[in-house]
Amino acid sequence: MKNTEELVAEASAWWDTSIIDVHPGKIAIRGYPVEQLIGRVRFPEMIWLMLRGELPAPAQADLLEAALVPGVDHGPHAPSIAISRMAVSCGLPVNGAMASAVNVLDDIHGGAGQQCMERYREIDAAAGASGDLVAAAEAVLARHRAAGEKIMPGFGHRFHPVDPRVAPLYALLRKAEAAGAIGGRFGRIGHAVEAALEKHKGRHIPMNIDGITAVVFCELGFEPELGRGLFVLSRSVGILAHAWEQKQRGRRIMGPMPPSIPYRYSGPPRRDLPPEVAARVTND
Ligand SMILES: CC(C)(COP(=O)(O)OP(=O)(O)OC[C@H]1O[C@@H](n2cnc3c(N)ncnc32)[C@H](O)[C@@H]1OP(=O)(O)O)[C@@H](O)C(=O)NCCC(=O)NCCS
Repeated sequence: MKNTEELVAEASAWWDTSIIDVHPGKIAIRGYPVEQLIGRVRFPEMIWLMLRGELPAPAQADLLEAALVPGVDHGPHAPSIAISRMAVSCGLPVNGAMASAVNVLDDIHGGAGQQCMERYREIDAAAGASGDLVAAAEAVLARHRAAGEKIMPGFGHRFHPVDPRVAPLYALLRKAEAAGAIGGRFGRIGHAVEAALEKHKGRHIPMNIDGITAVVFCELGFEPELGRGLFVLSRSVGILAHAWEQKQRGRRIMGPMPPSIPYRYSGPPRRDLPPEVAARVTND
């Protein structure tokens, strides 16, 4: 039988965290008093401190911040943004709209970055320290094709023949590499994937926003699942902005299309009920 002190010690140890230490009038995050953090630490540095336990070097924070900027929004055709607006039009407050929208950022819509980071790391491991990156990319892509995964996440785009978000991030990566802040290997792996895709498909399939942010997050040493989480943080900004804008518009119950646009019906043609059902007495 445990005594009272032992029971209290056991209950206190129930939630064990190295992230935050809170006492009446005192808050420390990763050991740093919050009053020292406020006004000195930028939000991307705070994200890094929370996820990684230490403050980033300024060049690392710059890259993380840059990678969080372009993912915020891709317009109401992006389901996460449309869902946010539809939820508000159904009466949900911003928290409900944000939760509904974030909930769909799963493998298919919003998951390409994490999947791309996983493939880059596979290529990194397959090539070894001095191997040919294009050959390793070809081998990894072929292995996934054989498993039925024909599409390389992070490459190609329905709307953008060239994704305008890629070149500026590549430029920042090159600058960071020249300054010795990152190794640059994952940028080379990204190019190797483009070369391998071109060899296989006979056409250029350029990197998209998920492919380039995957390069940044791999260079910065984030785990792939955290890459997904970082994208969700970024997109949450757009989700909130659209929820708020929709709230100001005040229009109620907006479906995915105006009611004047018909959807396609592909069920059975109009028909009469079976006789035994038709014979049932109605309530009127
Ligand atoms: C966005 C996407 C659906 C566009 O595909 P699409 O409309 O077929 O694009 P295209 O018409 O330009 O494709 C031409 C060919 O290249 C192939 N292709 C396109 N993107 C490819 C990719 N990432 N990996 C392998 N093959 C790809 C297509 O399958 C098609 O092959 P086919 O001619 O044998 O049918 C596709 O590129 C994709 O799924 N990309 C990865 C997912 C992703 O990163 N999503 C996030 C976008 S921000």
